[in-house]
Amino acid sequence: MAIQKVFVVGSGFMGTGIAENAATSGIRVVTYDIADPALERSRRIIEKNFARRVSKGRMTQEDADAAIGLISWTKDLKECADADVIIEAVSENQQLKAKIIKDIEANAAENAIIASNTSSISISFLGGLLKDPSRMVGMHFFSPVPAIPLMEIVRGLQTGVKAKKIASELAERMGKKCIQSRDEPGFLINRMLLPMLNEACVLVERHVGTIEEIDEGMKLGLNHPMGPLELMDMIGIDVELAVMNVLHEVIGDSKYRPAQLIRRMVDAGYLGRKSGIGFYIYDEDGKKIQPNTYILK
Ligand SMILES: NC(=O)c1ccc[n+]([C@@H]2O[C@H](COP(=O)([O-])OP(=O)(O)OC[C@H]3O[C@@H](n4cnc5c(N)ncnc54)[C@H](O)[C@@H]3O)[C@@H](O)[C@H]2O)c1
Repeated sequence: MAIQKVFVVGSGFMGTGIAENAATSGIRVVTYDIADPALERSRRIIEKNFARRVSKGRMTQEDADAAIGLISWTKDLKECADADVIIEAVSENQQLKAKIIKDIEANAAENAIIASNTSSISISFLGGLLKDPSRMVGMHFFSPVPAIPLMEIVRGLQTGVKAKKIASELAERMGKKCIQSRDEPGFLINRMLLPMLNEACVLVERHVGTIEEIDEGMKLGLNHPMGPLELMDMIGIDVELAVMNVLHEVIGDSKYRPAQLIRRMVDAGYLGRKSGIGFYIYDEDGKKIQPNTYILK
């Protein structure tokens, strides 16, 4: 099946990245959100990112205009009716995702594939909400989506061969290398990554090292491109907490219990780059200014 149109549900950090990546790959994409500010922000970010590519000589103005022309932003879910693949990328909340999946089913074409970008929620559960569960597949992108070449394809118990094949084809067209995961909490990568990030929080909480030392340590000592605390700020502290909660609840092992500091940061609205403050404080352009010493009190 030639994929003509992709519809992304949720125009936050990930939805915006997925839309930008799809359009750069020549695929028509519509991105949907309930919140006007999210749609406006998504458009602004995409325009800024393409302008940066042009100014750095990575793309011609003509190609950038063509890619932006492939993207539209909407508050009308009915526009998913002629999409071949619908990718759900709303906040990491099981109830919210369950509602959205049913709304998508009510509006989508019968032969469309429904994918979820969830970081931790069961694909088998989401598929079980559909009349035809074989249409549901996990497409777990990594952030920032246009730059990271990995895609985890997650097969729920009912995921059909067609859904898996189309998801893999779409991912490859978007320049991704696919790895497959069974439908277990956190799949492959988050199952390993999240406990490590959580432990970095515990070290901050216990004043074992400073925010900068922990990040520098992992960059210089292990050759990681970003420190764990910088990475958490990019992913979103709220997303981390939601994923840790699923790992802890579903697997049950205390090693997945979210650090108290993660909970308190979410309570305080310290969500990372998206709120301008997390482990670090950021300026309006998203540039890191200094470590957030409020969390060390
Ligand atoms: N942040 C990451 O690095 C990352 C990586 C891989 C996967 N994910 C997953 O991607 C999904 C989205 O994460 P994010 O970081 O983009 O979050 P985000 O908070 O940036 O964006 C979530 C978006 O969902 C929208 N939304 C909420 N309720 C909605 C509704 N009823 N209808 C339509 N839109 C609605 C919000 O307005 C917001 O724009 C989550 O499932 C997350 O686990 C995140």
